[in-house]
Amino acid sequence: MSTVKLTDEQQRFFHENGFLEVPQISNPDELARMRRAYDRIFSQKAGREEGNEFDLAGTDEEDKEAALPQILQPGKYAEELRDTQAEANARAIAQQLLCPDGSEEVRGGPAHAIFKPAHHGAATPWHQDEAYSPHPENDSRNVSIWMPLQEATLENGCMQFIPGSHLQEILPHRSINNDPRIHGLEVTPEAGVDFSTAVACPLQAGGVTIHPGRTLHYTGANHSAIPRRALIFMFSLSSLPRNDNRRFPWNETKQTARLERAAKQ
Ligand code: NI
Repeated sequence: MSTVKLTDEQQRFFHENGFLEVPQISNPDELARMRRAYDRIFSQKAGREEGNEFDLAGTDEEDKEAALPQILQPGKYAEELRDTQAEANARAIAQQLLCPDGSEEVRGGPAHAIFKPAHHGAATPWHQDEAYSPHPENDSRNVSIWMPLQEATLENGCMQFIPGSHLQEILPHRSINNDPRIHGLEVTPEAGVDFSTAVACPLQAGGVTIHPGRTLHYTGANHSAIPRRALIFMFSLSSLPRNDNRRFPWNETKQTARLERAAKQ
């Protein structure tokens, strides 16, 4: 059962600016349980063989420490991360933002986890999530709901957004450092984005930011002495076909170790 309901003002803010903060969707007991499970699956590198655990910001060789470890579908590897109060609230928020009349139910859950180790977790460069879509021929309709499991600050890598950037198309992206062996994407320098209007969103543990697939966002490196754990829920409506043969060439040239591992399964 959800315990959070957005006000009209919050919904208006989201649709105008392309992001929203909600101060709390979980509770201290649940957050402590989730933190333990989160640390466990990252220390196990859960999901590595099937390509679900990898380095988002590096070349991901077996003998190299990851700059930015990520686990896709973390709920698969830890039941403490499934069917939580946080998930029920995230779902209710997504429903209110994507389809408030309830004519279509949102689908989704915990989609991924991004871990920034203390002192050296890398930055996640500016990008739009829809640039990762394997189906550029469709417009995706979804929101990502980003929840830190400890305080998130500018020092440890809280979320930052460009207000209003959700109203534009997908900008040109490339693999981080223009290296197709790296999973992560970044908007290209040639896209000419003005980052001076960026808004940082520090949060307490269990608070969330919510953004749709076209909002430009970024998190800085972790310069703090504590790990920065983020769990990201994603909820979607069915995607809508486009008729302009849109392509995302930056995904067509990927050659990551993660995809090689997945192909061997
Ligand atoms: Ni993102």
